[in-house]
Amino acid sequence: MKPIRKAVFPVAGLGTRILPATKSMPKEMLTIVDKPLIQYAVDEARAAGIETFIFVTGRGKDSIEDHFDLSYEMSDTLEKRGKTTEQKILAETVPPAGDAIFVRQQRPLGLGHAVWCARKIVGDEPFAVLLPDELIEGATAELVEAYQATGGNLVSVLNIPREQTGSYGVIAPGAEANGRIEVTGLVEKPKPAEAPSTLMLTGRYVLQPEIFAKLEDQKPGAGNEIQLTDAMARLIGEQPFHAVPIGGARYDCGSKAGFLVANLVMGLKRPDIAPALKTLLKESGIDLG
Ligand code: UTP
Repeated sequence: MKPIRKAVFPVAGLGTRILPATKSMPKEMLTIVDKPLIQYAVDEARAAGIETFIFVTGRGKDSIEDHFDLSYEMSDTLEKRGKTTEQKILAETVPPAGDAIFVRQQRPLGLGHAVWCARKIVGDEPFAVLLPDELIEGATAELVEAYQATGGNLVSVLNIPREQTGSYGVIAPGAEANGRIEVTGLVEKPKPAEAPSTLMLTGRYVLQPEIFAKLEDQKPGAGNEIQLTDAMARLIGEQPFHAVPIGGARYDCGSKAGFLVANLVMGLKRPDIAPALKTLLKESGIDLG
């Protein structure tokens, strides 16, 4: 079985749900506490053993590329001022030379099209996909671990209230064993009464390279976009396909409320920030105890 060594980060979307913040700044550079969203996704991938980071970018997304480059001037200044802690923080953002690869999606035709734009860099091997606007702790490592047992394609899923199925992709579940659920179908945004389950697709995937042939001739679907879900559905029956319920929390940072909650919760989890944060909240009339 080929190992998962590469991850694709589709970051070419317009981020219209969080305007005006995203007018001239990529959604993926929005900050949760003190790190941009894209850095959380890269750190999650690295913790899962990923070695090559492929970013599918678009116009106006140059700051993502800059974020993963050396910041020579800042590093030099910090060194001269003896600020070693800050220098270390800077250094940790930079992947080894050649490990980060950037390719452009020239037009935002949908998530499926963005993934297809990475086909020549991924080549003939399985790969992970992470949507950085969803902050999910440890999900890629969970998928990679499950992949050792099942092979094939895997998706991370989250149980949601039935009345919400109309907003998400949902799996049709088959047999369940060892915390892995066989996927027998995928339905995009089903009405609650028609949803085959309440297990929603989150933004974490392990896919086989055969997905690229499906994406090649995939017709536009929901929202007139080329949907990754539609192409994945065509792999079911041809290759193993499993879902893994996420073990940690998930924050939808592509929505305003989700973004704010992520900042608050992640701030409260940080021992260096939580005491001051709680005090300031209390002074604002919010007592978290
Ligand atoms: P979203 O639909 O959440 O992102 O796509 P969006 O289109 O940027 O956001 P809204 O809905 O307008 O607010 C999920 C992921 O897929 C990427 C996005 O950058 C995001 O990481 N994406 C989406 C692309 O790379 N290209 C696309 O054509 C569409």
